[in-house]
Amino acid sequence: MRIVLGVGGGIAAYKVASLLRLFTEAGHNVTVIPTEAATRFVGVATWEALSGNPVSNSVFDDVHQVNHVRLGHEADLIVVAPATADLLARAATGQAGDLLTNTLLMARGPVLFAPAMHTEMWQHAATRANVETLRSRGAAVLEPASGRLTGTDSGPGRLPEPEAIFDAAMALAQGQSDYQLPLAGRTVTISAGGTREPLDPVRFLGNRSSGKQGVALAVAARNAGATVRLIAAHMDVPAPAGVEVVTVETAVQLREAALAAAADSDVVIMAAAVADFRPAEISGTKIKKRDDTADPVITLVRNPDILLELVEARNASGSHPARRNQLIVGFAAETGDSQGDVLAYAEAKLKRKGCDLLVVNHVGTDKVFGQDTNSVVILARTGAEPQLAAGSKAEVSAAVITRVGQELRHVSPRA
Ligand code: CTP
Repeated sequence: MRIVLGVGGGIAAYKVASLLRLFTEAGHNVTVIPTEAATRFVGVATWEALSGNPVSNSVFDDVHQVNHVRLGHEADLIVVAPATADLLARAATGQAGDLLTNTLLMARGPVLFAPAMHTEMWQHAATRANVETLRSRGAAVLEPASGRLTGTDSGPGRLPEPEAIFDAAMALAQGQSDYQLPLAGRTVTISAGGTREPLDPVRFLGNRSSGKQGVALAVAARNAGATVRLIAAHMDVPAPAGVEVVTVETAVQLREAALAAAADSDVVIMAAAVADFRPAEISGTKIKKRDDTADPVITLVRNPDILLELVEARNASGSHPARRNQLIVGFAAETGDSQGDVLAYAEAKLKRKGCDLLVVNHVGTDKVFGQDTNSVVILARTGAEPQLAAGSKAEVSAAVITRVGQELRHVSPRA
């Protein structure tokens, strides 16, 4: 495909270099048209080197090629990212002061705007009206992601991740003109990693969860346009960029963080490996081996079942609009045994926990924990046909997040 990539003058312009890479690596021929302001953030040389095509923002360069007509005419797809408030306004009012706005007026194929600006600008009546105008004329305008913005502020206005814009662009090119990111406007809380239950100041009871699955889910949800809160127990991998992170150690801390985050989340995914038991007593000093007393015996007590409590809290909130449609997803690691197979145990667990979806891993000693690949079955409380998903943890996560998006498709995002 011939793609024109219009770049607006916002700090998020640097992220568009990755988007350009995704397009070229997929075999597309990309011409970048930055606005004058965009070249203050990322220079023309970067766009030329990455696209392999000449870059200009003036209608007076290469006049003999009539670029202001040709580029728009020839493009199979135009993507504008970041679409600033100014650029949306100029496009909505049909201005033609530079090469990019000329090209937009000459466009014959689909046009996608990926906005990025401060929340106040995005929510301003003028911007809302411009977005409506562009959409009514058939352009696709993505909802921006929520999260940390350029300064200390946060809220809706972040440029969606390059992977998300890429997916939207491909969907648009295939004729899905009303495509939106599947989790745009949603808040998703994800727990990840393994809890650690202290015995004394230097020892703990832990488990082998690496956090890879939870982190992959956070990336997939973020790329689907969601605002993501990651509740991170012990993890062997770093938390991804673009998500809020709350660090916890024990099951009790994870419970508090999860219940607090769930209060205004559209989706809660419990991917953490939560210890079912913790030592009844935590020694304030290091437990020493001694010849004059018997070896210590560790007594364990039950930890709260967080998933169960999340479901109870959601159900108890009755018709509270923020909670009514909350989707709760559990994970189950099962081995099966002589008493029952993996699916039978998983179905019983789904009933017991009352969550909406249960993602079931089949574990052997060498499977799942710390591994990069995975194969799961997604069970639904509605009794829908079990769905299989296999592949890398990223692929499995993408399948889970796509399913979450499908479950929420009849629930409009909260204002
Ligand atoms: N979970 C939880 N709180 C716990 C234990 C588990 O919220 N105290 C969550 C996990 O995050 C996961 C799901 O419950 O989403 C299933 O966890 P699992 O340990 O497999 O199930 P258990 O309830 O421990 O059941 P069993 O011991 O019978 O396998």
